[in-house]
Amino acid sequence: MRLQGKTAIVTGAASGIGRATAVKFAREGAAVLTADLDDGATQDVVKEIETDGGTAYGIATDITVRANVDAMVAAAIGRFGKIDALVNNAGSRIIKSFLDHTEDDWRRMLDVNLTGHFLCCQAVLPHMLDAGVGRIINMASIAGNVGRPNRVGYVAAKGGLLAMTRALAADMAGKNITVNALAPGMIASPMNRGFKENDAFGENWNCENLARRWGEPEDVANVAAFLASDDAAFITGETVTVDGGSIAALVRQGE
Ligand SMILES: NC(=O)c1ccc[n+]([C@@H]2O[C@H](COP(=O)([O-])OP(=O)(O)OC[C@H]3O[C@@H](n4cnc5c(N)ncnc54)[C@H](O)[C@@H]3O)[C@@H](O)[C@H]2O)c1
Repeated sequence: MRLQGKTAIVTGAASGIGRATAVKFAREGAAVLTADLDDGATQDVVKEIETDGGTAYGIATDITVRANVDAMVAAAIGRFGKIDALVNNAGSRIIKSFLDHTEDDWRRMLDVNLTGHFLCCQAVLPHMLDAGVGRIINMASIAGNVGRPNRVGYVAAKGGLLAMTRALAADMAGKNITVNALAPGMIASPMNRGFKENDAFGENWNCENLARRWGEPEDVANVAAFLASDDAAFITGETVTVDGGSIAALVRQGE
């Protein structure tokens, strides 16, 4: 178990990639604090982890509200005494044309997908600095590296998160605290259920990657667990793409 004796906060842990990450971390031996807007589903994940023999504690949290974030960190310290890893995974996506994006839409995308992670890092880092060790993993997206239509706020925030990852990694130089990002491709989580189950797109849509299948939340969770482990101690300021090769090659059906 590669995370035995460690503790972690996973935000957005009630669903999809966050849920799979919380479950994976617990299976690898970590005590996990699950935080999400959706308290009921968060507690369900806690029960799932406990039934599996793991240790978890769930707390309702809106990562865009500093007081919520401070309460989340206080709960983790109160329960577990330390925070070895923070997985900044919570996120949401607005799909609208550029001209239809309201100023509120734009601000919401930056709040949820960038500022919230900044707040979580600021609240957790004093504890990691005191302990002299830490792992921060930011859930960005391939959309932070390539343009995608009708998602301007989301894409801008994810690009900002990749930039924040590198800048914060530099701020943590020599402190034994690594800061990395994951850039998933299209993953079959509730966020994408609408595409996967839509007849116009269907099961095969998004399979023009090199793996020729949808990504699963566990595909991303497995890499997050590696980045949180001691094996990844010399990786920092890095973005690991988990997309089945979809941006590695320009692939078209039949070719
Ligand atoms: N699914 C994909 O294909 C994909 C691809 C690239 C990146 N991502 C990123 O991965 C992360 C997880 O996505 P997912 O696909 O599992 O989505 P999801 O919708 O299944 O889960 C997101 C979770 O975040 C929570 N959340 C949203 N806003 C929050 C807030 N302000 N405070 C706390 N919790 C909040 C939601 O309640 C939900 O439980 C997101 O950051 C997303 O942008 C997903």
